[in-house]
Amino acid sequence: MTDPASHISPSGKPRILTGDTPTGQLHLGHWVGSLENRVRLIDEYECFFLIANMHAFTTRADKPDGIRRSTLDIIKDWIACGMDPDRSTFVLQTEIPAIAELTWYLAMLLPFNRVMRNPTLKTELETKELGDNYSFGFPMYTVGQCADILIFRPELVPVGEDQLAHIEPCREVARRFSQTYCGVDPQTEDADYVSAGGLFPIPEGKVGRVARLIGTDGVNKMSKSLNNAIFLTDTFKQIKKKLGGLYTGRQTMDEPGDINNSLFQYVRAFIDDAGRVAELEKKYAEGDNIGDGHIKVEVAEHIDRLLGPMRARRADFEGEKGDEKILQILREHTRRANEAAEETLYLAKQAMRLDFGIRELSFPG
Ligand code: TRP
Repeated sequence: MTDPASHISPSGKPRILTGDTPTGQLHLGHWVGSLENRVRLIDEYECFFLIANMHAFTTRADKPDGIRRSTLDIIKDWIACGMDPDRSTFVLQTEIPAIAELTWYLAMLLPFNRVMRNPTLKTELETKELGDNYSFGFPMYTVGQCADILIFRPELVPVGEDQLAHIEPCREVARRFSQTYCGVDPQTEDADYVSAGGLFPIPEGKVGRVARLIGTDGVNKMSKSLNNAIFLTDTFKQIKKKLGGLYTGRQTMDEPGDINNSLFQYVRAFIDDAGRVAELEKKYAEGDNIGDGHIKVEVAEHIDRLLGPMRARRADFEGEKGDEKILQILREHTRRANEAAEETLYLAKQAMRLDFGIRELSFPG
């Protein structure tokens, strides 16, 4: 019997899997919530970064061109922000058939009502005003997300706070699979699942340093659809203009301000000089001759300094030539991603007594 654990990560490093749905460009909320962690952990872990383009069809089945465009744009954003394709594997979901196949098997192990209780799914139904008219595929994507993760057997899933609700069923189904098909005792501690003979590590979600970045409307979470986002591609002028509109309700420079307002969330999130942050907080709280406008420009300058190198890296991938470069990277990475995914699928089917071995997978190769 193959020992599943021995096959994880030939690099010897634990794995990360995380990803984005291509429904637009990435913004600062993504940066502080997840991207920054990905860049920081890229060498410590063997990283798989997934474009959930199949999931994009759950609400946009009639917009294939937009999904394709956004797929390439998000990969450009990734490279721009430091997710180096030479040190990680990009996974284009629709090129990895093992994910769709595993989705079916996992769907049998998740109660339907459990899926429908997912709070993120419920919020999405509301904010996207899907009513009763959502597709069958829409709730299905939460099972798909479990498969996205488990097919790579990662230990860590760096995500924004809203995605934690998707990690929980993934952990549940991972336990259930190993209990049902690998003989793992239900009393086993999460950390011991693999050593107890289970196929999947029980993955943990990891939220970035700012769980929920407020948008430039000063009210809602930053989100492309709410028109309150600062995109990674924005220029200094655009950043300044967007921040300029951030409403705090404060009138004058000598009025004591609330250092827990939305502007100060930006101060703490983007001014990386603790001394300066403390000074601004003190002056603001005391109403010591400091205007909102001034602070906004200072924040904008820091954001611009963060985004400047990103814009520079992105310049290498402009236009159609840039698209072609991205496709070239994807072709190479897809082979690696399929090898890793098919290894897990092989082991899963073996555990499920589906090891007929008639169709060839890349593993065992
Ligand atoms: N649902 C995630 C989002 O919209 C994207 C995603 C799909 C994902 N599969 C994933 C994130 C697996 C982490 C792990 O942001």
